[in-house]
Amino acid sequence: MKGHEEKLMNIYWVKKHNSLISKWFRSLNKRASLLTYIFLLLFFFSFLLISLLFFAGWIPPAKYVGHSSSSQKALKVFTKKPEITPEYPLDCNAWNLTNTCPKNYPNSTKPSSANTSPESTCPEYFRWIHEDLRHWKKTGVTREMVEKARATAHFRLTIVDGKMYVEKFKESIQTRALFTMWGIAQLMRWYPGKLPDLELMFDADDRPVVPANDFRLPGSEPPPLFRYCSDWNSLDIVFPDWSFWGWAETNIRPWRYVLKDIKEGNKRTKWEDRVPYAYWKGNPHVCPWRADLMKCNATDQNDWNTRLYVQDWIAESQKGYKQSNLGDQCTHRYKIYIEGWAWSVSEKYILACNSPTLLMTQRWYDFFIRGMIPQQHYWPVRDSDKCRSLKYAVEWGNNHTEKAKAIGEAGSRFIHEDMKMEYVYDYIFHVLNEYAKLLKYKPTVPINAIELCSESMACPADGIWRKFMEESLEKTPSDSPPCKMPPPYQPHELMAFVDGSGKATREVESWENEYWDKENNKN
Ligand SMILES: *[C@@H]1O[C@H](CO)[C@@H](O)[C@H](O)[C@H]1NC(C)=O
Ligand SMILES: *[C@@H]1O[C@H](CO)[C@@H](O)[C@H](O)[C@H]1NC(C)=O
Ligand SMILES: *[C@@H]1O[C@H](CO)[C@@H](O)[C@H](O)[C@H]1NC(C)=O
Ligand SMILES: *[C@@H]1O[C@H](CO)[C@@H](O)[C@H](O)[C@H]1NC(C)=O
Repeated sequence: MKGHEEKLMNIYWVKKHNSLISKWFRSLNKRASLLTYIFLLLFFFSFLLISLLFFAGWIPPAKYVGHSSSSQKALKVFTKKPEITPEYPLDCNAWNLTNTCPKNYPNSTKPSSANTSPESTCPEYFRWIHEDLRHWKKTGVTREMVEKARATAHFRLTIVDGKMYVEKFKESIQTRALFTMWGIAQLMRWYPGKLPDLELMFDADDRPVVPANDFRLPGSEPPPLFRYCSDWNSLDIVFPDWSFWGWAETNIRPWRYVLKDIKEGNKRTKWEDRVPYAYWKGNPHVCPWRADLMKCNATDQNDWNTRLYVQDWIAESQKGYKQSNLGDQCTHRYKIYIEGWAWSVSEKYILACNSPTLLMTQRWYDFFIRGMIPQQHYWPVRDSDKCRSLKYAVEWGNNHTEKAKAIGEAGSRFIHEDMKMEYVYDYIFHVLNEYAKLLKYKPTVPINAIELCSESMACPADGIWRKFMEESLEKTPSDSPPCKMPPPYQPHELMAFVDGSGKATREVESWENEYWDKENNKN
């Protein structure tokens, strides 16, 4: 179980049992005070102190619950569930003294529970890990291939004997690389000792850079390069982005917290009571298609059923981002997702709202979207005919409220359940594990690499970076082993899946065509 939840559970447990415990102790108290009276009668004042000391040692300290804060602390210790996983807080004292990573990290030797809890199979979208690594299935991954991936990489990650080393090549945009490394460091705390030795190159920029076309011939093997998104013409290996541990520059908190905020937000307004239009808020200046979307905003002449807003990050940052709380953005019945310069971090936040996501035709994919199905988890809208497509989608949804609601809920469930933080770790675990199986050489610690641990990243950090690191620190190892990796798709299965998605999208497009033909005939 994770640290903060565990703490919450402890507090909950203490609260729930408070009344019981205090009843029990009240009765004990009566007896205890009787005893005290006898003592008082028998001994002088000078002996009282000794007797009290004796009492303190003899009667459990929890007796004094509610009387002083120090005894409340004692109560917590007293009532703590036995056999609780030890916590591993940041040890900045040690780091400051020695500038070396702690040696006493938890090992994989977590007692019993780790091996006894039943393994569940990972969500379906994990199967794409096999697809992303398929290109190296026959050849394996050689040192030369990895070196070739260095050309655009921001850092090299090496794991040897359960320790993580990083060789930095260049700065990334904002703190992307740092928070990605942080995420991997948390994975090592979450599944200590479970990661195999490996070496990989990571490119923290936006767009994929390994075109499949360049590696069609045998003997020209693609460099394995990890990044946040890829496309159907590229061989880059997708990896969850940094924002799962917080996006400090935009004040978006770590995923566990955001999920909770959005869940709360979803409860505030029932779907039926939400504004019956399609909502989008973001920066339209990053790419032409977003600028194009702005033309669909409602005007006096034309209402495309959309409500679009520009996110002004500078103004927001001056106001402390109060306007951009993600939990407060689930106010409309429909939410638009449109890519930015590449995939957008906003995708998962938008899909989590319990409102159908109107998903603009995608050029890129991140690690989870390939598991989502049009008409089931989201509603497809056309990039090539944005305004009319959006207007139709909203009107269809308002005509078919039950179906629309179901799409919103299915998409949201995917995000809240299949993509909860535990599964994000499992995904990373499996993609690294499967990749490591392909390595044809035994990785060694590179000369220019330094050992990374949570301390080396968090102790020197301050401000919001430090805050997010503390919030997303994994303080205890996972209670259970990673989920069981599902098998690769058989070629026919994969085809059926891709065809099914294509059909569902084309069906919506044909409905749109029909609708607009009719509308045009009216005029
Ligand atoms: C460690 O050093 C940093 C920076 O020098 C300082 O801000 C921090 O308070 C120190 N932490 C501890 C626990 O000594
Ligand atoms: C983990 O294992 C190493 C080597 O086997 C050992 O030195 C270390 O004390 C262990 N750490 C813990 C927390 O048990
Ligand atoms: C879109 O229209 C709404 C209301 O009419 C307005 O408040 C908003 O600023 C407009 N958005 C853009 C991007 O022009
Ligand atoms: C919604 O219902 C209205 C009234 O029945 C109908 O005219 C319109 O075509 C429908 N629109 C869609 C997109 O289903």
